[in-house]
Amino acid sequence: MNDIRNIVILTGAGISAESGLKTFRADDGLWEDHPVEEVATPAGFARDPDLVQRFYDERRAQVMAANPNAAHLALGRLDSEWRPERQRGNLLIVTQNIDDLHERGGARRVLHMHGEALSAWCTTCDARHPWRATLRNGPPCPDCGMASLRPDIVWFGEMPYQMERIYRALAEADLFVSIGTSGAVYPAAGFVQEAARAGARTLELNLEESLGSRFFDETRLGKASDLVPALVEELLAQA
Ligand code: OAD
Repeated sequence: MNDIRNIVILTGAGISAESGLKTFRADDGLWEDHPVEEVATPAGFARDPDLVQRFYDERRAQVMAANPNAAHLALGRLDSEWRPERQRGNLLIVTQNIDDLHERGGARRVLHMHGEALSAWCTTCDARHPWRATLRNGPPCPDCGMASLRPDIVWFGEMPYQMERIYRALAEADLFVSIGTSGAVYPAAGFVQEAARAGARTLELNLEESLGSRFFDETRLGKASDLVPALVEELLAQA
């Protein structure tokens, strides 16, 4: 792992699995319990807003009850130590997860491309608010007073957040690491090829081979709580 300066890390549901949060595509996963079209599309929300608000109320409560695991904590350490002013380089953690476990694990340079469970978005005035309570029964937007708050989540058919910033970071990356994501959902699933085109070394950490494994220079199989701390040690041992 020598001559690495700029690092982009993509995380998915697998990094939070050991914190007790369900992944999406496992046999007992979230999409097994709830059809995607019902709870993760604008059309589903229009059809049955109460069902969708209830689904995200549950997600919010589970996120608040969960704690970061060793993988989140290791990335928090990497984030505090891997800085240009320390003769390292840039780092960006792009997460598809809507939990705040990276932040609670100490990471600061985190971008939530699929939104956040603990945020509400007003579709009238476009404001976003930190939100920990229920969104059922139409609470008023603290800014405009309208009862038009929805979960601040990117649903299927909507544009993920901050794509320009992500592609800029990928274009400058020397190392791209994908952790605990199945490679089933684009555009995130395409980041590995984007990084490889820009000359980055690409590394996947996953419990098992994923749909995208063939695109990576290297895949390490195991639990995130083992593999991520080991990778961080390896990186920080770099001269
Ligand atoms: P998935 O449920 O599709 O994939 C989870 C991945 O984590 C799988 O590849 C597992 O093998 C791996 N995994 C499970 N436990 C692990 C562990 N302890 N250590 C390491 N890896 C582990 O979840 P995502 O890839 O995150 O989008 O799903 C991507 C997007 O699909 C989500 O952000 C969500 C969903 O639809 C939206 O809601 C917009």
